[in-house]
Amino acid sequence: MSRFFFPKWANKALPIGVLFGLGPFGTAVAGGLWYYGTDKHLSVGYAPKQPVPFSHKLHAGDMGMDCRYCHSTVEKAAFAAVPPTQTCMNCHTAIRATSEKLEAVRKSWVDDKPIEWVKVHNLPDYAYFDHSAHLNAGVGCESCHGRIDQMAVVQQKQPLSMGWCLECHRDPSQHLRDPKDVTKMGLLEESQKTGKPMSRPADAPKPIPPQHCSGCHR
Ligand code: HEC
Ligand code: HEC
Ligand code: HEC
Ligand code: HEC
Ligand code: HEC
Repeated sequence: MSRFFFPKWANKALPIGVLFGLGPFGTAVAGGLWYYGTDKHLSVGYAPKQPVPFSHKLHAGDMGMDCRYCHSTVEKAAFAAVPPTQTCMNCHTAIRATSEKLEAVRKSWVDDKPIEWVKVHNLPDYAYFDHSAHLNAGVGCESCHGRIDQMAVVQQKQPLSMGWCLECHRDPSQHLRDPKDVTKMGLLEESQKTGKPMSRPADAPKPIPPQHCSGCHR
């Protein structure tokens, strides 16, 4: 039944928006369809230039920093906050304190104005997403963001389309790991190579992701 809904009718969604009638979702669909259908906001490979040449490869890969040191709300909230300048200055008051590449960080600190990071991943407002629900169920960052620890510049790795969400929601089994390991990188890649599922405690709950429309369109 739900197969019917994707992915082709992305082109034909207007009648369905009309079907939804006067609700805010229907309106958003009608208004948003053209914008999100044509904009690169939903495209794999999107890697905008950032105001500071911050490298995940260096900080999360080579230095092995845990994602949660900077994205501290990710397990508790829908939103994965990008860190405040304070977090950078914990180290960069001493490390590379005069580096040109950190000029914009120091300026932000002195002026007490946040760095204007460009958002890479953008879902339309009418689709509801919650990080904490996924992480607590044991879906790792790697499943949706790829090998961030190898990226000098963050790049969108997955389409973030409804079809992509649903593909996993129908059968998440290959993506489930021990919820303690959600920030570990490489486990999924290894599992896909060997065909062996990622390790997960036997008593971990069996998540049942929503497939009904109102699960993601609230
Ligand atoms: C030292 C701090 C730090 C660490 C550690 C860190 N990040 Fe980030 N992250 C940032 C900053 C700053 C940005 C915004 C700039 C950018 O996109 O590169 C960001 C952006 C991102 C984005 C893109 C957000 C968007 O705009 O859509 C993702 C995804 C992400 N990080 C995932 C991770 C993952 C996964 C890890 C662990 C493997 C991690 N980060 C570790 C600081 C950090
Ligand atoms: C735990 C300590 C730590 C934190 C926190 C940290 N960094 Fe770094 N950063 C380092 C180290 C270590 C280096 C590498 C210095 C070297 O190459 O000698 C570095 C290098 C850099 C460089 C390259 C500097 C150059 O001259 O090559 C940039 C840019 C940078 N960090 C940005 C950031 C930003 C932005 C944040 C906050 C989101 C941040 N860092 C948080 C430790 C940290
Ligand atoms: C099930 C897929 C999924 C998982 C798992 C996931 N993310 Fe995301 N992430 C997304 C989506 C989708 C967005 C865009 C959300 C939006 O635009 O509303 C996003 C956005 C982000 C952002 C930008 C800020 C925001 O919340 O919009 C950061 C930073 C981020 N993710 C970091 C992480 C980190 C770190 C982890 C692991 C601890 C992680 N993500 C796990 C799908 C995921
Ligand atoms: C790699 C697998 C995977 C992907 C991709 C994925 N999800 Fe999920 N999602 C899950 C799992 C597993 C759960 C079940 C959580 C539970 O039952 O505890 C879930 C639960 C949810 C929930 C219910 C959370 C709650 O608070 O009730 C929503 C909403 C949701 N996902 C939206 C999305 C959207 C929107 C996307 C695409 C942008 C997406 N998901 C992509 C695996 C995934
Ligand atoms: C697992 C989450 C999820 C579920 C369940 C879901 N959607 Fe979506 N839907 C999304 C996301 C994410 C988008 C935005 C990305 C895109 O346009 O593909 C979206 C976009 C749409 C759009 C905009 C048109 C388009 O394709 O761009 C319509 C209309 C829509 N959904 C209708 C539905 C209907 C009807 C159902 C129930 C049969 C449903 N959705 C179930 C996540 C979901």
